[in-house]
Amino acid sequence: MPTVRANGQQINCAVGANLRRVLLDAGVALYNGNASLINCRSLGTCGTCAVKIDGAPGCVSEANWRDRTRRSLPPHVSDRDLRLACQTQVLGDIAVTKFDGFWGQGDRQVWTPDHADR
Ligand code: FES
Repeated sequence: MPTVRANGQQINCAVGANLRRVLLDAGVALYNGNASLINCRSLGTCGTCAVKIDGAPGCVSEANWRDRTRRSLPPHVSDRDLRLACQTQVLGDIAVTKFDGFWGQGDRQVWTPDHADR
């Protein structure tokens, strides 16, 4: 059973679980500000669920076309190491970091694997 470290929590989930669902079910503030109300709810179109994921190779599913396409559009930049949580399946242990900005596109960490949001 994979462990997701996020916002100072350790969350266990099933192999293949959707990362957005795992985080929201655990009460993690996946979205910044009003993006918690104004988001596409997993369609992969808004880009506000972007997070940084660290872990061993194969710890999450490959980025699908929705993930790649949305992150290629502003304010995201495709060469940044972010992923859309709603398009990502958890396959192994991961550590997740959220950055600031409405789309989570900023440079300042909002929360990290081991530290809760401030
Ligand atoms: S919730 Fe909109 S892209 Fe993930």
